[in-house]
Amino acid sequence: MSAITNDAEFDMTLGQSPAPSDVADVYDGIGQIYGAAWGPNYHYGYWDDDNDHASIEAATDRLTDMMIDGLRGQSGQRVLDVGCGIGHPALRLVQKSGVDVVGISVSHVQVAQANELAAGAGLADKATFQFTDAMDMPFADGSFDSAWAFESMWHMPDRAQVLSEISRVVRSGGRLAIADVIERGPVSPEGRKVLDHVCANYAVKSLGTIEEYREALAANGFVDVDIRDVTANCNRTLAVMADAVETRRDELNALVGEEQAQSLLDFMRLSAVTPEQGYVFLTATRA
Ligand SMILES: C[S@@+](CC[C@H](N)C(=O)[O-])C[C@H]1O[C@@H](n2cnc3c(N)ncnc32)[C@H](O)[C@@H]1O
Repeated sequence: MSAITNDAEFDMTLGQSPAPSDVADVYDGIGQIYGAAWGPNYHYGYWDDDNDHASIEAATDRLTDMMIDGLRGQSGQRVLDVGCGIGHPALRLVQKSGVDVVGISVSHVQVAQANELAAGAGLADKATFQFTDAMDMPFADGSFDSAWAFESMWHMPDRAQVLSEISRVVRSGGRLAIADVIERGPVSPEGRKVLDHVCANYAVKSLGTIEEYREALAANGFVDVDIRDVTANCNRTLAVMADAVETRRDELNALVGEEQAQSLLDFMRLSAVTPEQGYVFLTATRA
């Protein structure tokens, strides 16, 4: 059967803005099984080239380390983590840079897990996580030294609005790092089907593009912008994730049924070889 069918867990109308609860449904539903299979980093891995056989853990931590380096954080600084998952990348940031982190997510489940993880690591005083929608943040102007959005922007109903919010809460001279799933043109009809399927099933209104990021960053006061298309390094993620999720096939079958489980796995493998589904890593400075 085709890999492109509607996933049972989530079925959004194409082009509709995902509500926070739509995002939470994805992560608290099939996302729990993906997370159990993939590990605590809820983001892509980075491999140097085809000869790089780094494990999932090493490849996902490597992308975290690129984000950490991009922030250039210093001990005592306050960092905003926009879309924190279960907090694993934020805790690595705290451990490596000595910064304090405030992480936000629209999943209550993730916020609870992240705070538990921080407490378990003895870092509850350095990393706190709260339920907050990035579209409208309750933080004071200039109250953070830097921010990252680690694979969360693809879910945002309006990326420019989130960048405007980040620009507001980060002080002048502060750093920004973003890793995100993007659309890469030119998009073939087959590629469009894959991108549409991602949007309709994973709480995504539309995927961003590098051009969109360049314009929105400039419009929201970011300078020193460095944008890298790292699709070739990251897209192996989908195939590796399909293999990992395959090992938890019984749980997936129980959650969505056998036919749907097969279609989810087939779709991941199809995404891995769809060049229009790309990945960006960027850094910038708040003017
Ligand atoms: C792919 S996960 C990445 C999690 C984490 N950054 C990591 O790398 O492990 C996407 C995250 O974005 C969060 N997210 C999506 N939309 C959001 C919104 N409007 N406001 C805040 N967080 C959001 C999700 O709840 C989830 O935690």
